[in-house]
Amino acid sequence: MLDSESNERPISAKKRPEERAFEATLRPRTIAEYIGQDKIKESLQILIEAAKARKEPLDHVLFYGPPGLGKTTLSNILAAEMGVNIRVTSGPAIERAGDLVAILTNLKREDILFIDEIHRLNRTIEEVLYPAMEDFAVDLVTGKGPSAQTIHLRLPRFTIIGATTRLALLTSPLRDRFGAVYRLDFYDQAAMELIIQRSAVILRIPVDAEGAAEIARRSRGTPRVANRLLKRVRDYAQVRAEGHITRKVAQDALNMLDVDELGLDDGDRRILTALIDKFDGGPVGIETLAAATSEETDAIMDVYEPYLLQLGFIVRTPRGRIVTQSAYDHLKRNPTARARDRLGLVASDTTSTVTRQSTLWDSATDE
Ligand SMILES: Nc1ncnc2c1ncn2[C@@H]1O[C@H](COP(=O)(O)OP(=O)(O)O)[C@@H](O)[C@H]1O
Ligand SMILES: [Mg+2]
Repeated sequence: MLDSESNERPISAKKRPEERAFEATLRPRTIAEYIGQDKIKESLQILIEAAKARKEPLDHVLFYGPPGLGKTTLSNILAAEMGVNIRVTSGPAIERAGDLVAILTNLKREDILFIDEIHRLNRTIEEVLYPAMEDFAVDLVTGKGPSAQTIHLRLPRFTIIGATTRLALLTSPLRDRFGAVYRLDFYDQAAMELIIQRSAVILRIPVDAEGAAEIARRSRGTPRVANRLLKRVRDYAQVRAEGHITRKVAQDALNMLDVDELGLDDGDRRILTALIDKFDGGPVGIETLAAATSEETDAIMDVYEPYLLQLGFIVRTPRGRIVTQSAYDHLKRNPTARARDRLGLVASDTTSTVTRQSTLWDSATDE
């Protein structure tokens, strides 16, 4: 059972088709059911109550942050809490401006249009969105050449909810049209444990508190990863340990999957090792790093890098990524004299510390 899946990476950003149904079962439906992200929940509750009291549609909302943290879940919860319909589309799915116009003109008052991966909308399509979001209108061009006519079409008041892993790729006019913008952060250990316990109850997986804590520790603060690991550990427990997940069982299963005590997998280690062995610790630009590790640039930026930054294992500098001493320690490696010098420079340079803390998600340029 485990073998058929074992070549799939548990932390990958890609959602496998069979995962949709699984995620749907585990997805919290209400704010009350949604674990963690307390500040965002509180703010959303106010947004919802205020809109309801004024009998108005919700303001446009934007969620951003790494994959698997709950952007889609929160969008659905907003619709459910408002008692309105949600239509779902995504940046890459809208190919022509006409596609978007068709979607918009079919919306009813108060409907929510959820646009996933909104950073992948192309510019001409974005331009349809500006007046639609601001004035609830679109300009339709009919006919061609001299007989072309522009029809100004009023739209009902609706709500756009956008989700993105790359805030920096959104143009500022688009970003400015969202009344509320929320950044989802990695979950803390306590929240992760609750999420795993909740999923275990729904999936009827026997797991004790320490087993859940162990899976939580290795799930990189990401509910989607936690749910995947839980499933994989369940398989292991069934085959090797009569189904019950204890701390030991979780450890053995996750070690076998090459997910270490901090949740790093083979991909993370490959990136860190490449930085160390091929580039003497960096700095290295993202494209170069992608080429050296055979990872996709997107995967590095969306999945690996945010967590490695969060752990403080790499820092971003204007000249590229640098591996930190803690990463060397974790991998039981020693920096060369040259790398050590550079690390000293980085540590004493306050701007790179600031870079690390504030641009997890917001840095506009990447290289
Ligand atoms: N706060 C949460 N509490 C419980 N489960 C969550 C939470 N956030 C996310 N999940 C789970 O993680 C999965 C991924 O969440 P999703 O909303 O699809 O992430 P994103 O859209 O940010 O990639 C969902 O199926 C859901 O089961
Ligand atoms: Mg999503």
